[in-house]
Amino acid sequence: MAEPVLTELPVEPAVSLDDYAARARAVLPPDVWDYVAGGSAAEVTLAANRSALDRVAVLPRMLRGVNAVDLSTRLLGRPYAMPVGVAPMAYQRLLHPDGELALAAAAGAAGVPYLASTLGSTPIELVAGTGAEVWFQLYWLRDRALVRDLLDRVVAAGCRALVVTVDVPVLGRRPRDLRNAFRLPAEVVAANLPDGRDDLAHAGAPGVSAIAAHTHAAFAPALRWADLAWLREHLDLPLVVKGVLDPRDAVEAVRTGADAVVVSNHGGRQLDGVPASVTMLPEVVDAVGDRCQVLLDSGVRSGTDVLRALALGAAGVLVGRPLLWALAAGGEPAARDALELLATELRDAFTLAGCADPAAAGELRTVAVG
Ligand code: FNR
Ligand code: LAC
Repeated sequence: MAEPVLTELPVEPAVSLDDYAARARAVLPPDVWDYVAGGSAAEVTLAANRSALDRVAVLPRMLRGVNAVDLSTRLLGRPYAMPVGVAPMAYQRLLHPDGELALAAAAGAAGVPYLASTLGSTPIELVAGTGAEVWFQLYWLRDRALVRDLLDRVVAAGCRALVVTVDVPVLGRRPRDLRNAFRLPAEVVAANLPDGRDDLAHAGAPGVSAIAAHTHAAFAPALRWADLAWLREHLDLPLVVKGVLDPRDAVEAVRTGADAVVVSNHGGRQLDGVPASVTMLPEVVDAVGDRCQVLLDSGVRSGTDVLRALALGAAGVLVGRPLLWALAAGGEPAARDALELLATELRDAFTLAGCADPAAAGELRTVAVG
């Protein structure tokens, strides 16, 4: 009998970012799916990120003569194609062998910034080599010499900004990872750290997340605003503080010289039970005024969500998990498609809301519903 001819089924184009989640789930090892999809503790905040965004109703404007939408904007003084960035996410080679290189290249093609994690599985120099605008996300390591060394590399690689993540003194307790005894496979390494500095992230033990054990050993747990002030003084790059919810912390960030803050609860992966980022966005915007730009992440899944954030005063948003799902589903081409889909949705939302550009979106009113 002749061998059956295996023809590749054509992949239907994704019509929403959620489509990529289903595709990723079908191809990923269950423990990797859980690491990415999951949140901390009871995952109350993870769910709140979605439900709170859905309760923001935007009031569209009519008859404003909008026939061409211009999504372009300036973040940290630099021009981008839309008010969106790729959130910093660790260990992207868990999702696809091309990992960071694929997602950074997709960001470059879309004209949006790629935020490269300290815990990237590809060295920052190679990520910067994709030609994308790269902002480096710093996890402050216990070893200050290592931090200095990283900062030198970041500047030499031509990164455009430094993003200090402040909501991870330790990793949140994530039940899925604890149950799975999640650890990195041998081929996925913390490529920005010197050899061997990620051994703990590969060491399995029942009831333990190796990633949590590694970050616990590697990250400085007791940082103060004064440490950030030291950084501000020694760093000749725009500074972004990621992971504030309390407006008082946003004000501290401004006092320390931050050029932007990211209102974020880390996608519901750190302290559970905290409010959705979007719930705190208006207060943070009020508190900092025009002293720094305010970005939002956690739960953004569509053009509608981006419009909601802009209407509430954000200068832009970061998108996390959906882009990892796209990466898992189809590498760089799928990640490009995902960002293009988001741009299409956003253009559509702007048109329907009567907004010619992001500044007009910032003037929209919202109502809290449900
Ligand atoms: C993250 N996040 C994150 N943040 C950060 O500052 N440095 C990091 O290394 C990581 N790593 C990371 C890994 C994975 C798998 C996820 C899902 C998230 C948090 C990320 O930047 C962002 O705040 C959230 O992912 C935003 O929420 P959504 O869009 O995923 O809901
Ligand atoms: C995470 C870390 C590494 O959220 O930021 O998994």
